[in-house]
Amino acid sequence: MSPSSNLEAHLEQQRLRIDRRLDQLLPPETACPPLIHQAMRYSLFAGGKRLRPILCLEAGGLFSPPSTPDLEAVSCSLELVHTYSLIHDDLPALDNDDYRRGKLTCHKVFGDAVAILAGDALLTLAFRILSTLQHTPPAIRTALIAELSLAAGTVDGMIGGQVADLQATNGAVSAGTVEYIHRSKTGALIRASVCLGGIAGDAAPQDLQRLHDFGTSAGLAFQVADDILDVESSSEVLGKTAGKDAAQKKITYPAVFGMEQSRKIAAECVQRAQSALTAFGPRAATLQDLAGYLVSRKA
Ligand code: IPE
Ligand code: IPE
Ligand code: MG
Ligand code: MG
Ligand code: MG
Repeated sequence: MSPSSNLEAHLEQQRLRIDRRLDQLLPPETACPPLIHQAMRYSLFAGGKRLRPILCLEAGGLFSPPSTPDLEAVSCSLELVHTYSLIHDDLPALDNDDYRRGKLTCHKVFGDAVAILAGDALLTLAFRILSTLQHTPPAIRTALIAELSLAAGTVDGMIGGQVADLQATNGAVSAGTVEYIHRSKTGALIRASVCLGGIAGDAAPQDLQRLHDFGTSAGLAFQVADDILDVESSSEVLGKTAGKDAAQKKITYPAVFGMEQSRKIAAECVQRAQSALTAFGPRAATLQDLAGYLVSRKA
């Protein structure tokens, strides 16, 4: 078996593990009012690679013995915030997308009002999960909440990046702006994914810094790859409408740097991410491979 198929098999196993845990953490569809729980579950279980929770599990797994039994729940909180961000990103007032994860977007099925509330609900549930972890000391619970809220927030976080993305559309093309947008709207949550794993594993400050550096570079690489895929992949493979960035005149890496240079930048980010973990030795090999996968992925 080739190393890449080994990684893909591992990712598939982790994905199933996360899906099972997400199913336990979400209220059942029948919980009152059923409409909101149907909408939350519709978007959450529409598909999705689960890369953020997987990054969290891998990062947490670096710190034994044994990483907290709460690690799975921590990793799921990242997927809830991510899925909320996708539901809102797809709304007519933002990117106005009809397809996500191979299915109609949440607002196409449930309407804008319920889609907005489903996003709000997933975000809220993420913080409830972190604040009620059963086996995690209060100081660690607080640190997890602080890290995730920072990454999802306005200052160098996801919302800040989304606002800059909206404002940049049709605007002047600048390398500094696109880097800020990508680091914030997407990079911050990828960075938080590995940092939450480290925090849950009670990592020492210098190890947390290594994860922070890894996540910062891997996160930028991930969004550069998303831009590249939007240009060169198909809607069928992506499960979302390809070619939308150019159609909407988005400020992307290919728009600013061209395809070849964007690929080079993504590869350099991967290298930087992998080097940040050198001190962990071979036990960080899966995380390092994952950094490569973030840009070699086909969807
Ligand atoms: C897509 O993220 C949105 C971005 C932040 C670029 P993913 O490519 O991880 O989407 P899913 O979760 O697999 O659907
Ligand atoms: C999305 O960036 C970032 C967030 C959801 C925060 P994009 O708008 O490029 O993501 P896709 O391409 O719609 O998945
Ligand atoms: Mg967007
Ligand atoms: Mg979008
Ligand atoms: Mg995109």
